[in-house]
Amino acid sequence: MIAIEVHLDAEASEAMARDVRAGLQSEPKELAPKYFYDERGSQLFEQITELAEYYPTRAEREILARRSAEIVAEAGAPGTLVELGSGSAAKTRHLLDAMRDAGCLDTYVPVDISEEITQETARCLVEEYPGLAVRGLVCDFERHLERIPTAEGERLVAFLGGTVGNLYPAQRQGFLSRIAALLGPADRLLLGTDLVKETDRLEAAYDDSLGVTAEFNKNVLQVLNRELGADFDLDAFEHVARYDSDRERMDIRLRSLADQEVRLEELDVSVEFVAGEEMRTEISTKFTRARLESIYADAGLEICGWFTDAAGDYALSLARPA
Ligand code: TRP
Repeated sequence: MIAIEVHLDAEASEAMARDVRAGLQSEPKELAPKYFYDERGSQLFEQITELAEYYPTRAEREILARRSAEIVAEAGAPGTLVELGSGSAAKTRHLLDAMRDAGCLDTYVPVDISEEITQETARCLVEEYPGLAVRGLVCDFERHLERIPTAEGERLVAFLGGTVGNLYPAQRQGFLSRIAALLGPADRLLLGTDLVKETDRLEAAYDDSLGVTAEFNKNVLQVLNRELGADFDLDAFEHVARYDSDRERMDIRLRSLADQEVRLEELDVSVEFVAGEEMRTEISTKFTRARLESIYADAGLEICGWFTDAAGDYALSLARPA
């Protein structure tokens, strides 16, 4: 009942070296957010999701807990759930439960970068859902999206956690267009997005009082130290999280506390930071329903369902090929 394909290769570490080199040599400097998530980074992110200030995970869980039956019905009782960035599939069980209760559950396709967690999740799920087939894919879903298996019946493709907000507009449009191209006429996309709200709450969500988020942000430097033989001094940088209200996105950076030079042995590169210089490590875009509708339209999709938590902080939207 379990089949897992792995598409991680030497290419992945070459891609990292290339990305980091380009990012550190661009002006301003920038690192791609996918490198946050080594083992320590994943643990720290887990802790972030439990912080008082970080509402998105709880809001999304609330929507799934309360409205999965409606979501599944609105999606046409699909037999297959594809999940991009599935991880431990904690929130996914609400959708799987609803599919089972609707009598349509057949196949779960977890797509994740971590082989270990995908294997473990698959093992747990086939026990929890007797008869469930798991056809997992271990890959960087931005690079290998087109390898997602086609299915007999309808599919629901879920992209939760607000991760789409971490893409720049052009990247986001490319990604959503590729998803649109994968969808058959009866397939649906379920997309998690954080919503625009007061600056204070947004900035607190990305700069908590316990300092967990700051530690998470700096951990990316530790990843570079290990993977690329770099010598970043984590104490020589500070965490910065600002809301850019024009672009409706959080802008997350690391600010150098001193003039310093950092060596990345594996890249054979040294980079200079001046005191106060900021390097972006992530954007996290916040949406409105109207914005999302136009983003969907640009990608060849149209909205066909809108589900928010009671506070209206976060949305899951359902979209179909236009
Ligand atoms: N994708 C998450 C988000 O946009 C990741 C995240 C939460 C994050 N807190 C962070 C990324 C702090 C960098 C820094 O909400």
